[in-house]
Amino acid sequence: MKFFADTAEIADIRELASSGLLDGVTTNPSLVKKSGRDFLEVVTEIAKLVKGPVSAEVVALDHDGMMKEANRLRKIADNIAVKVPLTPDGLKTCKKLSGDGTMVNVTLCFSANQALLAAKAGASFISPFVGRLDDIGQPGMELISDIRMIYDNYDFATEILVASVRSPIHVLEAAKIGADVMTAPPAVIWQLFKHPLTDAGIASFLKDWQATGQKIA
Ligand code: E4P
Repeated sequence: MKFFADTAEIADIRELASSGLLDGVTTNPSLVKKSGRDFLEVVTEIAKLVKGPVSAEVVALDHDGMMKEANRLRKIADNIAVKVPLTPDGLKTCKKLSGDGTMVNVTLCFSANQALLAAKAGASFISPFVGRLDDIGQPGMELISDIRMIYDNYDFATEILVASVRSPIHVLEAAKIGADVMTAPPAVIWQLFKHPLTDAGIASFLKDWQATGQKIA
């Protein structure tokens, strides 16, 4: 499973990248607002920092406007994935861009039929938002299972990018289902490393080691 960081904070991305486990980054207009940075500037910086796909979202709602913005975004770097909303114009734009060899992340997916449409439009990634579905009392992970089944039925190459991840449990469930990618806030990714028994084990091993008076190097 690939791990993407869902953030536009450069310091957080740099720290995660240094773990060697970061495969990409997703941004959205709200994350850009939170960062307080200029959109094109921050996306350019992220695309240099991370080798894998960096999603940058269009804000136009019509196909022509989306194409204009996508043309600007895809010029930034080869690893830019243009993010488009799951609307008829978004999917028309997806079809055009993917036909040109540009990576496209179709975002704001809340149903399996929407995911089917995105795959037919040639999306590189489909982003189902599990946390936002949970928020309204619909089990987000059921959507991931349904999409996995449909994509496997037809051998679609579109990668399932589990988005709106809020906790390590979301990551675990997505991995058990066989999602291709998950994108999570950096704090959730760091939580994955933690277990109290790991900390306790290190403390007791260190105590015993010190008692031996030995050195390794
Ligand atoms: C995905 O690409 C989105 O940026 C993100 O996962 C949305 O998450 P949220 O529902 O926590 O805002």
